Amino acid sequence: MLRIAVLFSGRGSNLQALIDGTSSDNFPATIICAISNVPDAYGLKRARDAGIETLTINHREFSSRENFDKALDDALRDRNIDLVCLAGFMRILTLGFVEAWQDRLINVHPSLLPAFKGLDAQQQALDAGVKLAGCTVHFVRPGVDDGPIISQAAVPVLDDDDADTLSARILVQEHVIYTQSVKLIAEGRVQVKAARVFINPN
Ligand code: GRF
Repeated sequence: MLRIAVLFSGRGSNLQALIDGTSSDNFPATIICAISNVPDAYGLKRARDAGIETLTINHREFSSRENFDKALDDALRDRNIDLVCLAGFMRILTLGFVEAWQDRLINVHPSLLPAFKGLDAQQQALDAGVKLAGCTVHFVRPGVDDGPIISQAAVPVLDDDDADTLSARILVQEHVIYTQSVKLIAEGRVQVKAARVFINPN
């Protein structure tokens, strides 16, 4: 069983998708703990309701990014975590942390990367006038929303979309590909070679 930690800052719908996915029969991974940097994040309730250990590591209580990341790192190591899943985690991680967890740290982002990195990716897609938007699950590298891509899903942009309707359509796909990606990693089928990820057949 792959031992997972999920890091989040807010409502935690991707956390919920991972909770639901990992609790299905024969899923080869288990969520050991859910960690929020925001004390009242709704995702904490989701994890508690599922009987998963929760931790709040409040970035405001640390004097530097390095100290905050050290606390995260300690919590993960104490629990022998194999894979860290960022799910709406709104903190930029230090280079040291990202390097220490290289290829064991993944993120979901609401755009077809490398387009529309950073905040408000869905509004960026609307502003650019693209006809296809989507989401990406990727291994984390030091650049924001950068790293080898594990999976992507595309959705249409409709004429009457605003950021909310487009976000909702993308979010459905985030939940699908995040759970699928974790499963592939847990099955040992994911290989990273430089910028590319290869999925070994069953
Ligand atoms: C998602 O759109 C995710 O791609 C982005 O932040 C949002 C988090 O949503 N990184 P939720 O907290 O998982 O519902």
